[in-house]
Amino acid sequence: MINVELMKATSIINGKEVTQAEEKTLEVISPFNGEVVGKVHLASQEDTKKAIETAYQVFHETMKKMPAYRRADILRKTAELLEERTEEFARILGLEAGKPIRDGRGEVGRAVQVLRFAADEAKKIEGELVPMDAAIGGENRIGMVRRHPIGVISAITPFNFPLNLALHKLAPAFAAGNTVVLKPAGKTPLSSYMLVKLFEEAGLPKGALNLVIGNGSEIGDVLVTDPRISKVTFTGSPSVGMKLCQQAGLKKVTLELGSNSPNIIFNDGDLNAASTGLVRGAFAFSGQICISAQRIYVQREVYQTFLNQYVSLVEKLVLGNPMEETTDIGPMISEKEVIRAQEWIQEAVKAGAKVATGGNREGTLLEPTVLVDVTPDMKVVCEETFAPIVSVIPFDTEEEVIAMANDSVFGLQAGVFTSDINRAMRVADGLETGGVWINETSTYRQDNYPYGGVKLSGIGKEGVKYAIEDMTEIKFVGIKLG
Ligand code: SIN
Repeated sequence: MINVELMKATSIINGKEVTQAEEKTLEVISPFNGEVVGKVHLASQEDTKKAIETAYQVFHETMKKMPAYRRADILRKTAELLEERTEEFARILGLEAGKPIRDGRGEVGRAVQVLRFAADEAKKIEGELVPMDAAIGGENRIGMVRRHPIGVISAITPFNFPLNLALHKLAPAFAAGNTVVLKPAGKTPLSSYMLVKLFEEAGLPKGALNLVIGNGSEIGDVLVTDPRISKVTFTGSPSVGMKLCQQAGLKKVTLELGSNSPNIIFNDGDLNAASTGLVRGAFAFSGQICISAQRIYVQREVYQTFLNQYVSLVEKLVLGNPMEETTDIGPMISEKEVIRAQEWIQEAVKAGAKVATGGNREGTLLEPTVLVDVTPDMKVVCEETFAPIVSVIPFDTEEEVIAMANDSVFGLQAGVFTSDINRAMRVADGLETGGVWINETSTYRQDNYPYGGVKLSGIGKEGVKYAIEDMTEIKFVGIKLG
């Protein structure tokens, strides 16, 4: 068991720890109490170029030739190792990200499944035959479409699911036979370091996965612009995502950006299911989830009943130390972010909003906050809060609420609560989002369906099978028979 109280981590290039090239180190700080929980050697731009060079060579020499059954074996073995070390990883997530320990175990469980889905998908990467005789002159010709790995992938990951969102990039990449340079968020590099070690132990060839830990744009720019990179896959903020898209040129790009997810409760919806679901839906990991419920629209007839029930459930949440079993809500990622979130609440209140519960903070712990009487132009409504803040808003008609929900620059996932299947399907059709859940909150995600947004929420899809489509290139091969 690694001593996770003060863990040392480094970048890893071609299986070797990089400690000497760059003197700079970074302290990993617990967002809960400010204690140093890890020390990390920072990679330089030169290290990053070496990592890309290694990944490029290992792709051409090894990974693209590796048979599917072998890639599947490695992924399955990594899943097994990760499952055995669930507790260790959950603790790391608690220390570096401030994730409550029970949620950390949940993240590890999902990550294990992602690896198993990828092991299955590795064996299903198929091509097809083109009916060549559909065209005049196509007689006596055979046309095949085959899928090939694309090469080196830059994977840039966020702090909120440091393990599972890394695996949403790595697992499909290896399932398809690619190689990767991984750059984790500066605040949460420890779980990535441990993950690279697991892949090595599971038999992934050295240099197929290289880790560069370093300062944002300094090494990020290299990872996006280097011509040996074939694809960039990024989860993070819209501003960084857009910059990255401009820099990437003709490389393939997948962007998973933010949202201010709407959840709609109709008069005929199950209020108990909606209120209990939306407690986690809005406040799990302090709302620092891209699909976190941020706007709850409730039909006027049941508005007050829902609000009373919801507020009383929210007030039962236990706020505190992420390492304790009883904690529901831990800290936000940093003091800067919690101050920003509280300012947004105060700004809304100044403009006429009311706090139904919450609003106070102690250090990085912000109370789960429910706002009412908000207006569409308030930041807490129209921007992504990425904080434990939710607004409850009344509406009258179906048409009105679809327009209210769509009045957003984002479009990732939405939730709809109704017992009328016809209405559910009409609303699902009307919502401008990458995904819609009926009788479930926007915050629910299962790792095998296509996940990704429209508008400023991003481009491309994750969800192993769908990520593989974007991490492979199709090639046509034709035969003219004699
Ligand atoms: C995200 O915050 O982008 C991912 C949410 C999840 O995987 O549950």
